[in-house]
Amino acid sequence: MRSLAIAVLSFSITSFAGAVLVQDGPACPEEHGVQAYAHPESCNLFFLCTNGTLTVETCENGLLFDGKGNVHHHCNYNWAVDCGHRKADLTPISTPGCEYQFGLYPDGQECSVHYIKCAYGEPIPHQCDPGLVYDERIHGCNWPDLLAEKCNPEAVVGFKCPTKVPSNSLAAKFWPYPRFPVPGDCHRLITCVNGYPRLITCGEGKVVDERSLSCEEPETVPRCANHVRK
Ligand SMILES: *[C@@H]1O[C@H](CO)[C@@H](O)[C@H](O)[C@H]1NC(C)=O
Repeated sequence: MRSLAIAVLSFSITSFAGAVLVQDGPACPEEHGVQAYAHPESCNLFFLCTNGTLTVETCENGLLFDGKGNVHHHCNYNWAVDCGHRKADLTPISTPGCEYQFGLYPDGQECSVHYIKCAYGEPIPHQCDPGLVYDERIHGCNWPDLLAEKCNPEAVVGFKCPTKVPSNSLAAKFWPYPRFPVPGDCHRLITCVNGYPRLITCGEGKVVDERSLSCEEPETVPRCANHVRK
């Protein structure tokens, strides 16, 4: 039996709206739903079955197919994709502010809480969660102390870690990662790592109990009982 992929090269195809409809081609393995399959030769292409209809699709510029990430139309950022033996064409189609039509980029400032997300060549500014800055190396937001040469974590978090804490204090209980409350904030606390502050946000539905400096169920923290984040 021929594989879905190899057979497709010799069939008559019709182009429509960027997708290529495969006629008289191999059947989609499934009659219903939407399934995407890797193309054996190109990392830029993939096969799509839509309720049993097979088309060959092209990832947008900057994106490749890995069957996992779905940034846009079944395709993922090229730097996240392992193409294996499939060839990838990574010729950029640039527009002002966007190297590729789809991508994530630093906003030009070092240690910035902002970054640029490009979609269809349009640069849209995004903001990291509080306490985090954009880290080009991971294409995402990160703790400022991990970008120490470029960042001043104390300025980002707005807190300076003491070099020591009273031994009987609550903060000392967490040494070498002493914790401190963020006054008036029911969702965040500060922890110090190697002398640098990190702003920690409690998980969903949890609030900071200042008595234990940990994230707890809101029922046990009267002060923050009405502060549940969705
Ligand atoms: C597939 O078929 C079902 C049932 O006919 C329909 O409800 C659905 O919208 C179709 N899906 C797509 C992506 O065309």
